[in-house]
Amino acid sequence: MSNPYARHNEESKANFDHVYDLPDPRGYFEALGSLDYQAPEHARRLFPVLLREVRAGGGPSGILDLCCSYGVNAALLGHGLTLADLYARYASPGLGKLSTEELLEDDRRFYAENRHEAAPGIVGADSAANAVGYALGAGLLEAGFGENFETDDPSEGFRKAVGNVGLVTVTGGVGYVWERTFDRLLKAVAEARPDGRAPWVATLPARLVDYDPLSNLFSGHGLVTEKLSARTFPQRRFADAGERKHALGELAKLGVDPAGKEEEGWYYADLYLSRPAGEASKVPLDELLEASGILDY
Ligand SMILES: C[S@@+](CC[C@H](N)C(=O)[O-])C[C@H]1O[C@@H](n2cnc3c(N)ncnc32)[C@H](O)[C@@H]1O
Repeated sequence: MSNPYARHNEESKANFDHVYDLPDPRGYFEALGSLDYQAPEHARRLFPVLLREVRAGGGPSGILDLCCSYGVNAALLGHGLTLADLYARYASPGLGKLSTEELLEDDRRFYAENRHEAAPGIVGADSAANAVGYALGAGLLEAGFGENFETDDPSEGFRKAVGNVGLVTVTGGVGYVWERTFDRLLKAVAEARPDGRAPWVATLPARLVDYDPLSNLFSGHGLVTEKLSARTFPQRRFADAGERKHALGELAKLGVDPAGKEEEGWYYADLYLSRPAGEASKVPLDELLEASGILDY
């Protein structure tokens, strides 16, 4: 595997596998919240602007959230909620007492009450089938698939569900998913879309990820990849000194300056956007997001 971040079972990166596929999201929010994980909050601010742009260009209006977990991005993109709201909700003593079935019922009501009128249709995929099942049960996803495209081809059901996907999103997942996944997924979406085109792809990987293999893969699908240069995004605190040492070592190999960012104890992420060449040449990513005024927070 060419990506250093992917070797998540090594001592160099905290292992969250035990919270990825639980019957409900409480353990996930507790574990990730304890390290101030922030990626979905950035997604909440950034991805709607990108989806608007896809639609403005005549592209389809749906999102495919890859590594969707318990529907975290769907909860934020489709509802009047912040990530802080979700951390507070799932840590609340009242909800702590509920069984999974009771929590699911409460979540269904909660998300229905907070749903935006114009919430985007979101299809989710994640290798954690229980997490996807929970997101579906809570009403967060239009369709959801517990599938692993690193190892298997997409199911017939997935292929049929992705015909309206204009934007693929990933937070906290690049590294777990890599070239094989994106290759399979982009083929499936292009085959399902009436216009036969590949969707836009927006990701927020940690800065120690060497994105070149993915940029090359995307270019084979007719997509041009840009990295936002205007700013970076705090992702989460390092779990321990081992993570910090590993991250600083990887950044040094890539020639990335960690001053004021990783050196202060946090993983930082970059925003990457891959778009069809004709659309990428119209307006650079930095210009697009700076004009929207959403980068200053
Ligand atoms: C850090 S979580 C991020 C979840 C969510 N996107 C968020 O930001 O809160 C990483 C997710 O990647 C998923 N994952 C790991 N390996 C995967 C694979 N091969 N295919 C799909 N999902 C995978 C895990 O199950 C987990 O839900």
